[in-house]
Amino acid sequence: MEKTIKDVFIDELHDILSAEQQIAKALPKVAEASSSPELKAAFKAHLQETKGQIRRLEKAFRLLKLKPRVQFCKGTKGLIDECNEVIKDYPKSAVRDAALISKAQRIEHYEISAYGTVCTFANELGHKDIASLLHETLNEESNADKKLTKLAEGGFLTSGINHKANPPAKTLKEKTAGKKKPSSSEDKANSDKKNVTSLTNKAIAATKSAVTSKKKTAATKKKTAVASNKKTTSAKKVAPKKTIAKKTVVKSKASKAVVRSKARKPAKKSVAKRKTSALGHRKRA
Ligand SMILES: [Fe+2]
Repeated sequence: MEKTIKDVFIDELHDILSAEQQIAKALPKVAEASSSPELKAAFKAHLQETKGQIRRLEKAFRLLKLKPRVQFCKGTKGLIDECNEVIKDYPKSAVRDAALISKAQRIEHYEISAYGTVCTFANELGHKDIASLLHETLNEESNADKKLTKLAEGGFLTSGINHKANPPAKTLKEKTAGKKKPSSSEDKANSDKKNVTSLTNKAIAATKSAVTSKKKTAATKKKTAVASNKKTTSAKKVAPKKTIAKKTVVKSKASKAVVRSKARKPAKKSVAKRKTSALGHRKRA
């Protein structure tokens, strides 16, 4: 058989009925677990509202001429289980109250979502009387959620549960207030210990610096030696012994040639003189 939007609407109504029944069963335990009197009162008041919401749903089924069947809401069970875990894990305190508000608001939002949807379906299917009933409950759920927010965050004159659960951290002065003050002999022992440590550190630093300077000197000497060796080698490269010897030989040969040419020159001059003297003789003749 083909399913219609009316089937979805009726399924959702059964789901919400199961949710409300589970919530009505869980709320007394949650109220008892709260430490804040205001929060306790809010949970108790919502229990009464929840009972009225169950009556509205039963009326909606009567208007639809349907007998509600058993249909378990797994989503609500999970949310209530989380509430019970908080009660188990946290001792009764403002911190537990803050955690309970967090879990209760998840339940409220789940219900607001569900009632919003069934209101829309009821209007779509032309069930204005049922839509009006469901809208009444939707407003109650919204107000319950706002009430929980106000309890958590506080108002103009009151501080919220979240603030009470988060006291300011102790100052350093408050933390050390209960600690034992050291005696004068303890002070002296501590001071001596500090002095010894300081001297030891200085000696270590001096040794380190001496070792470093020795290493530096050795490195400088090594560098100088390498540099002088390089110079000698380059000098050798520029003027090798054999070349010098060859140059000397060339020089000596050249000087000998000069000597020889010098020896020849006067002979040339004497020839010229002889020529001029011969011409002189001819002129005279
Ligand atoms: Fe509810």
